[in-house]
Amino acid sequence: MKLLGKKLSLLQVAIHLGAWIPLILIVLNFFGGRLSVNPIQDIEQRTGRLAILWVVLSLSGTPLASVFGWKELNKFGRTIGLYAFMMATIHVTIFVALDYGGNLKLIWDAIVEKRFILLGLTAFIGLTVMAATSFKYWQKKLKKNWKRLHRTIYVIAPLIVLHYALAKKGDIFTLQGDIVRPFIYAVIVTLLLVLRIKPVKLFIKKQWSTMVRKISNLAPQKKTIENKSTAQKMKLGRG
Ligand code: HEM
Repeated sequence: MKLLGKKLSLLQVAIHLGAWIPLILIVLNFFGGRLSVNPIQDIEQRTGRLAILWVVLSLSGTPLASVFGWKELNKFGRTIGLYAFMMATIHVTIFVALDYGGNLKLIWDAIVEKRFILLGLTAFIGLTVMAATSFKYWQKKLKKNWKRLHRTIYVIAPLIVLHYALAKKGDIFTLQGDIVRPFIYAVIVTLLLVLRIKPVKLFIKKQWSTMVRKISNLAPQKKTIENKSTAQKMKLGRG
């Protein structure tokens, strides 16, 4: 598909639509009065959920490529990461401008009083640094340190999961409160992080390629059987 003279793959189109459609729907629902009795809290929560979803998507590119050999998603790692940052920025802007009306004293009090806000802020600072240094210029300038810096996502992602769990007034460790969704995210993030540990990665990669080989070995055999039966059928026909 071509857009503004640029050729886009199906996956690229899906990524862009997947980012913009939910945001457009939020705006339409907000101005159309189709949200809950507390529309500001509603859009704050919805954008928060979008942000965590995109962070998790950006984390999954590398394991999908290095373990399962699906390299497509990893090609758009920067785009996905920037969308995660965009969603988080919208979420934070709603908190600052709409929820707290830009009142710095109230915002400061909230940061000091509520642990989950401090966690969110820490994660947001991390995401901002990563987004700001995602350009080729910084990649060249920081060299090896660029990779090290961008590995902080392994700390940021669990912070976001904790921010989510605590925002829902849940306790992820004792499984109390409204924690089903944060818990699912905790499991996914843990799996994605564990898949980056070298021995685990090599083990799963080996198991996966053995399974793929077995399945692909089955395919020609099936063909041979089919061919045989066709030949047999022809023989029978001739007889
Ligand atoms: C300065 C940084 C941040 C602030 C001040 C902040 C603020 C908030 C607030 C006030 C809520 C609770 C809304 C409510 O239930 O009334 C919330 C929930 C949430 N935030 Fe943040 N947040 C920040 C950063 C982030 C980041 C970086 C992410 C993800 C990338 C994120 C994801 C979420 C999620 C998933 C929820 C729960 C949504 C739900 O209830 O379903 N937040 N945040």
